[in-house]
Amino acid sequence: MNESLRNLKPYPMVELARRKAEVAARGIEVLDFGTGDPVEPTAPFIREALAAAIPDISQYPTIAGLAELREAFAAWFARRFDVTLDASTEVLPTRGSKEAMFHLPLVLVDPSEAKRTVVYPDPGYPVMAIGSLYANADLHPVTLTADNDYLMDPAAIPSDVLARARIVWINYPHNPTGKDLPDELWRAWVAAQEEHGFVLCSDECYTEIYFGEKPRSILQFGRTGCLAFHSLSKRSGMTAYRSGMLAGDAEILARYKACRAAMGQAQTEWVQHASIAAWNDESHVEQRRQVFGVKRSIMIRGLEKLGLSLYPTDSTFYLWVSVPEGEKDEAYASRLLEAGIVVSPGSMFGPGNDGFIRLALVPTPAQCKHALERWAAL
Ligand SMILES: Cc1ncc(COP(=O)(O)O)c(C=O)c1O
Repeated sequence: MNESLRNLKPYPMVELARRKAEVAARGIEVLDFGTGDPVEPTAPFIREALAAAIPDISQYPTIAGLAELREAFAAWFARRFDVTLDASTEVLPTRGSKEAMFHLPLVLVDPSEAKRTVVYPDPGYPVMAIGSLYANADLHPVTLTADNDYLMDPAAIPSDVLARARIVWINYPHNPTGKDLPDELWRAWVAAQEEHGFVLCSDECYTEIYFGEKPRSILQFGRTGCLAFHSLSKRSGMTAYRSGMLAGDAEILARYKACRAAMGQAQTEWVQHASIAAWNDESHVEQRRQVFGVKRSIMIRGLEKLGLSLYPTDSTFYLWVSVPEGEKDEAYASRLLEAGIVVSPGSMFGPGNDGFIRLALVPTPAQCKHALERWAAL
């Protein structure tokens, strides 16, 4: 086995699924706020586009994907962020952002070079660190806490680390906290990229799940050396389709595209047709925001009534909730689990987060109310 993977911990969501199955096996109805995989049906017109595109003859899809797909994404990006992308060179389809994030360091990091560090937020989406481990990169987690308001700031990272950085990951709106980044820090990251020459990778899969100001894209601030990772998973409720889009620096994308053929990461063609339909429509996204907004209000009001405090954020379908005074996340999550309520203990996302649990707004509004009743009884 690859030596550098020795320290790999079990993937957090695998552990959550195990705990959930244990409780369900005891006959307790499970209300699952654990994994961020919502249960709202995918819009019918998207499913119909997928079904209509299944061909009689099955042949390999291409890495570059259909021009119509790249153009649909570029048109959406222009409408949403007021940024014009060249659909032939600045856009590349992915099989969801996860695989694209995982594979990128394998292409960009040369472990024999001094510039081989990958910088990433902690807590954060675990694939940023895991992909870098597989690529034998040096890892530099940036600790985000309530003390720095979960804001990743280049000024708070030693400049020798940034000088050795090959990749810097930022993720706003941020999983697990829901925090967003102010414009001055987006600008600061682009300036740091220009100074140190790393590839600035911005994971933007939650930009469409907002309840306040519209979140930004890195490409509104810079393009050279910058990549934005987008996804239909959260925006359009298409997690199983595996459909994402990478946008930004044409030269980096050309190199990545050349390597991705061997990785077998071409988006399935009928998924591409469903994705074209999804990128071309905004009303189903508005409807999803509405549904999450309802669940969000129920849970925020309910948890505050129980005396719990929530980290103030306006984006994502996550709530970052402080555990009661004197409690630790793991023990608190275990007690909730005994009542059939699944939440993610904060430390699942990295050390230093044991004062928090994360709730994904997955259960229906009725189930949210039901969960609050059980919570109150606890
Ligand atoms: C922060 C973050 N980035 C990326 C992903 C991966 O999304 P996708 O379904 O596009 O692979 C997730 C999924 O939960 C996520 O939370």
